[in-house]
Amino acid sequence: MLFTGFFIFPKSASTFAGEVDAFYFFMWALTLFFAIGIAATVIAFIIRYRRSDENPAGADIEGSLQLEIMWTAIPFAIAMGIFAWSASIFVNMQRPPDNAMEIFVVGKQWMWKIQHMEGRSEINQLHVPLGKPVKLTMTSEDVIHSFYVPAFRIKADVVPGRYNTTWFEATKTGTYHLFCTEYCGTNHSRMIGQVVVMEQAAYQDWLAEGNTNATGIGASLANLSPAARGEALFTEHGCKTCHFDGPGRVGPLLGGLPGSTVKLEGGDVVAADSRYLRESILNPRARVVEGYEPLMPTFAGRVSEEDVMSLVAYIKTLSPPPGAEAHTTTAP
Ligand code: CUA
Repeated sequence: MLFTGFFIFPKSASTFAGEVDAFYFFMWALTLFFAIGIAATVIAFIIRYRRSDENPAGADIEGSLQLEIMWTAIPFAIAMGIFAWSASIFVNMQRPPDNAMEIFVVGKQWMWKIQHMEGRSEINQLHVPLGKPVKLTMTSEDVIHSFYVPAFRIKADVVPGRYNTTWFEATKTGTYHLFCTEYCGTNHSRMIGQVVVMEQAAYQDWLAEGNTNATGIGASLANLSPAARGEALFTEHGCKTCHFDGPGRVGPLLGGLPGSTVKLEGGDVVAADSRYLRESILNPRARVVEGYEPLMPTFAGRVSEEDVMSLVAYIKTLSPPPGAEAHTTTAP
């Protein structure tokens, strides 16, 4: 804890922390500078230009172009500087690096469910390795929650019906607070947890331990990775009936699809990211791939958010069929 006199600062433990704090202190110093400067000027002018017998009426002062340009240009430059600086931090926070490891987060009243790609799952705890970028793909089963780790200086809404992402890279081992910071009902204030930052080797050991206590998302599924679970769901729901590689196929091929772009009926082109895949499972008619009939039924209500995340993870593991240059977005 750093006590600044006005604010209590949480410890900082991510690559963002320094940037965010520097910006915050700059804003704080700027505000202080103008607040004191303006107040001091007001007081000085009250004393200097107070009404006196010798000078009963105020002088008639004409405008000053120089002054007007100055007090327009300087605040404009300051405001644009604030915009550029904060926007660069914001953009950086919105764009996980390509080598980031992905972890799924599902919020629900009133807990955080965490799923690691290797199979281990946990509740109200998030174990992460030190010095590795971690991308969180997050959604909610019910209402809006917000994922907040003060020590990492990250905060992102967790919204039902869509995927939000955030990322961080931890710079210090230790245990840090995790809060829900969007009022989400009776036990909102108890929707808290811990982020545990471990050395990379210790994290690997922790993953390898598996789900020792039979709680959490993976309880009934032991330590199946989301991709393995997704494969089972893919078979169970008969997805292969349409998405198989062969003659007579009626659905688009999925191998190589994630990360590519897709041409839609109507001519739009969209990125086939996790959000698009999720939408295509739950609301397949929203954005139909060019050349295909809107035949796919919706899976909304038949699969949980964790199922959808597992299916997306599985689709990401599929490789494009041999011979195909990329995935095929047009009908066979
Ligand atoms: Cu969840 Cu507040």
